[in-house]
Amino acid sequence: MKHLVVYSSPGGNTKKLAEELFRQLPDEKDIKPISEAPDPSACDVVCIGFWFKGGQPDADSQKYLKKCSGKKVFLFATHGAATESDLVELGMNKATELAGEANVIGAFSCQGEVPAKVIEAAANKDPQPDWVKDAPAAKGHPNGNDFMNLSEALIKAGLITKDKPVSGQIIEESPVMLG
Ligand SMILES: Cc1cc2nc3c(=O)[nH]c(=O)nc-3n(C[C@H](O)[C@H](O)[C@H](O)COP(=O)(O)O)c2cc1C
Repeated sequence: MKHLVVYSSPGGNTKKLAEELFRQLPDEKDIKPISEAPDPSACDVVCIGFWFKGGQPDADSQKYLKKCSGKKVFLFATHGAATESDLVELGMNKATELAGEANVIGAFSCQGEVPAKVIEAAANKDPQPDWVKDAPAAKGHPNGNDFMNLSEALIKAGLITKDKPVSGQIIEESPVMLG
């Protein structure tokens, strides 16, 4: 089975995720930045990585998603918004919608660190975008925990059978103090 990993990543977060995804896939695989506009027609599964802008997949990824009709597609993304938020659900749904007739076999997303200047500029907008309040918590992401969750999503999608050790450090979540 031929796998193609395509990613859009001006800041490097989605590229990190793409490289980890690529590492975990079995052989017969290729990885390309979206700027090279790789032809998806010769592969069986296209893994498309994008970043969130304006609550949606970035513009280059939107165009590429439309090219993947009829393909098996695995979506992955990074964003400043909290992973479990409605904002992320809406953005991922938008990506599925853009993929049109593609068969979306799975999806994964996590936060991606947002540069302080970007947070500051977005925080000064009126109205302030909803994702900005979550953005400070994106620091250090994607990390080893995200890579582990990515493995689970790949297993669920049937793209890998068992998880290879993930790269990057696993960070113990600190216990939540109640009361
Ligand atoms: C101009 C700009 C707009 C952004 N808009 C959003 C947004 O609408 N929603 C969101 O969750 N994150 C937003 N972000 C945060 C990025 O999606 C996040 O940092 C992502 O990991 C960047 O990916 P990259 O490093 O691969 O380029 C924005 C970042 C920038 C620079």
